[in-house]
Amino acid sequence: MYIPPMEIALPGDKSLTHRALLLAALASGTSVIEDPLTSLDARTMAALLRRLGVSVSPMRGRTVRIGGVGLRGLRQPTTTLHCGNSGTAVRFLLGVLAGAAPPFTARLTGDASLRRRPMRRVTAPLRLMGASFVELAGDGLPVVVHGRRLQSIVYQPDVASAQVKSAVLLAALVAGVEVTLREPVASRDHTERMLRSLGVPLAGNAQAVTLSPVESIQAFSMRIPGDPSSAAFPAAAAVLAGRGEIHLTQVGVNPTRIGFFAVIERMGAQVDIANVTDWMGEPVGDVVVRASSLTATTVPREEVPSLIDEIPMLAVLASMAEGTTTFEGVSELRVKESDRLGLLAANLAAVGKRCAVEGDTLTVEGSDRAPAGAVETAFDHRMAMAFAVMDRIPGASVRLSETASPEVSYPGFFADLDEVAPLG
Ligand code: S3P
Repeated sequence: MYIPPMEIALPGDKSLTHRALLLAALASGTSVIEDPLTSLDARTMAALLRRLGVSVSPMRGRTVRIGGVGLRGLRQPTTTLHCGNSGTAVRFLLGVLAGAAPPFTARLTGDASLRRRPMRRVTAPLRLMGASFVELAGDGLPVVVHGRRLQSIVYQPDVASAQVKSAVLLAALVAGVEVTLREPVASRDHTERMLRSLGVPLAGNAQAVTLSPVESIQAFSMRIPGDPSSAAFPAAAAVLAGRGEIHLTQVGVNPTRIGFFAVIERMGAQVDIANVTDWMGEPVGDVVVRASSLTATTVPREEVPSLIDEIPMLAVLASMAEGTTTFEGVSELRVKESDRLGLLAANLAAVGKRCAVEGDTLTVEGSDRAPAGAVETAFDHRMAMAFAVMDRIPGASVRLSETASPEVSYPGFFADLDEVAPLG
């Protein structure tokens, strides 16, 4: 049977929307962002910037305008900054506010999921720069930050984390000092690309980068491409539901973000990336995925940063593949929006699939048996979307504990899913 190709226009990239909003707030003049993500997480960042004295137009429609206050113009908030579910917002702000001119004090907190996530990975290097924090709950939130004059550091984090790297780079930008960061494995490099395109001197390569100070950054216009992490869900739905071909248009194809597509290609799907152009230093292209039967693969630890947010979806794909798939070095999953490692293992077992966690390795045994059972999402958007996709496998019956969390990163997720893999 011939099935015509489907075309999906994805929501704006979450990582780029956060960075564009924050850098526009720190720029001099009015910036315009086209096609930003307008999900819960992005609206949280916009609301936080307003609390810091930045004018940000409503996060509706296709354009948002930001009246930048300059690198050192943020206003002290009068009450606690609530960062909702957004790890990116809180970690970036810890960096930016650490370098605010004293006297400046802000208290940051978040929802139950965010409060349990580790913040010391960010506060530790910032403290080496001279930052001052009061931790009110050990490694988690709330944290109080007192603005300080910061100094230059050379730092190598233990984990490959773009949030840690970006927090340090942003602190240095605001404080007007040089920093050098070395990463064990390169994490996503959006902050570096965006800073470079705004004229901030950044020397080095994927593994080590040095930022030199600037007096100011100028306002800019930027269009946000589709989110490759969101793209993983309709792409996987098309593959699992055997829906011929899916076209994902104008998606970010930064090499540090597209490990998901490399893995499904190894598993047997056909992936083509075409029409690649440059949007403010970011490669953007059209991704075509053609369905096929899947075979198991190994995801080595060096590949993990390029697909860290896609592991729930990849584990679901692996559970339908022929053979046993291994994900190595995935302990970071324990400190995402949920304990994704523990929850993935429990949920795959709950729908009749076999998997195991040993140390920081996850193995998933594939079988063509249709999954059936109830899963707990723990209000984790990516867990909910991965298992919602699993429910669309012919013959499957997967019940989610809630369906609201996809709004965190992918407004319109269920409408897109209905189009790619309609129910029953
Ligand atoms: C992000 C980095 C990743 C990712 C998160 C977004 C970013 O976190 O999981 O969803 O925009 O920098 P880590 O850098 O902590 O791995």
